Amino acid sequence: MTRRAPPIAEIKNVTAWRGSTRVFHGLSLEIHPGASTVILGPNGSGKTTLLKLLSREIYPEPRDETRLRLFGEDRWNVWELRTRLGMVSSDLQEAYDSRATGRDVVLSGYYATPGARPHHRFDEEERKRAHQVMEELGVTELGAKRYGEMSTGEQRRFLLARALVHDPEVLVLDEPTSGLDPQACFQYVETIRSLIRAGTTVVLVTHHIHEIPPEVQRAVLLREGQVIGDGRKKEVLTSARVTELFGTPMKVLSSNGYLQVIPARHPSGNLHDASSPGDRVQGNRGLG
Ligand SMILES: Nc1ncnc2c1ncn2[C@@H]1O[C@H](COP(=O)(O)OP(=O)(O)O)[C@@H](O)[C@H]1O
Ligand SMILES: [Mg+2]
Repeated sequence: MTRRAPPIAEIKNVTAWRGSTRVFHGLSLEIHPGASTVILGPNGSGKTTLLKLLSREIYPEPRDETRLRLFGEDRWNVWELRTRLGMVSSDLQEAYDSRATGRDVVLSGYYATPGARPHHRFDEEERKRAHQVMEELGVTELGAKRYGEMSTGEQRRFLLARALVHDPEVLVLDEPTSGLDPQACFQYVETIRSLIRAGTTVVLVTHHIHEIPPEVQRAVLLREGQVIGDGRKKEVLTSARVTELFGTPMKVLSSNGYLQVIPARHPSGNLHDASSPGDRVQGNRGLG
C-alpha cells in the first residue's frame, strides 16, 4: 500500500487577527500536493493573511480545536519551511532592499532576508543554482542591475528566482501579475505554467481572474474571511458565483483555458443597479 503524502496545509478552525481586526473565525481549508489552487477574493477578504499563516509570519489564536499543519507537521523551523514552500508576496516586493543587485536578490533566498547582508556567504553549489535559476527565468543579463532600478516585471522575476533557489515543492504567489504590463504578465504566467507542469504545486491568491494559469484546477472563494466556495475551477468560477463573491454583476468569459471577467448587465439594461447578487445574474428571480 502506498502512503499518501500529507496535505501541504491542513487548516482547521483557525481564528487569526491582524492588529485589532479578526480576519478569520473558524477557518478550515486543506491544500494538497499536486493540486495547484487559486484562492480568489476581493480586497480585504483575508488572502494575504492566509499566506502569512502559511509562511508562519502570523499565528492562529491558540485554541484546543485549532490546527495548522504544514506538510503533516505542527511545528516548523521557519528557515527549513522556506526550502519547501517558496513565496513571492507584494509585501516582499515593496520591502526589498533597492540597492541589492539582481544576483544578490536571488542568492538572498538562501538566507530568507529581504536584501543582501555583509555576513552572507555562499558556496559554489549555491552560486551555481542561483545562476541556473536566473537562466531559467531569462534574467541572467540583469544580474548586476540594482533592484531599485528594475522595472516591476523584472523585480517580480528576480523575487520568483529567489523563491526558486531551493526548488520548493510548493510555490505561493500573492497577486503575481499585478502591476505588470501584458507582455510581462503573459511571460510570468507562462513561467508559472511550466513550473506546474514540472511538478510544483502552486497556490495563487488573487482577485485577478485573468492571471489564473489554465493548469490550476481548484478554486477557493474567500469572502470576509469565510470560504464561500471550493471545488473544481470550472464549477466554482461561474458568473453567478463570482458575482456573489465580488458583490458586483460580472460575467466570466473563458478562452484557451484562461478566464476573464467583464461587467454584466442587469436585465433592465443598466449596469450595477441590481438589488441582490442573485437578482443580478438570474434576472427576475422571485417575481410574481
Ligand atoms: N497590519 C494590519 N493591522 C490591522 N488590520 C489589518 C492589517 N493587515 C490587514 N488588516 C485587515 O485584515 C483584513 C484582511 O486583510 P488582507 O489579508 O490583507 O486581505 P486581502 O489580501 O484579501 O486584501 C482587512 O480587513 C485588512 O484591513
Ligand atoms: Mg492582499
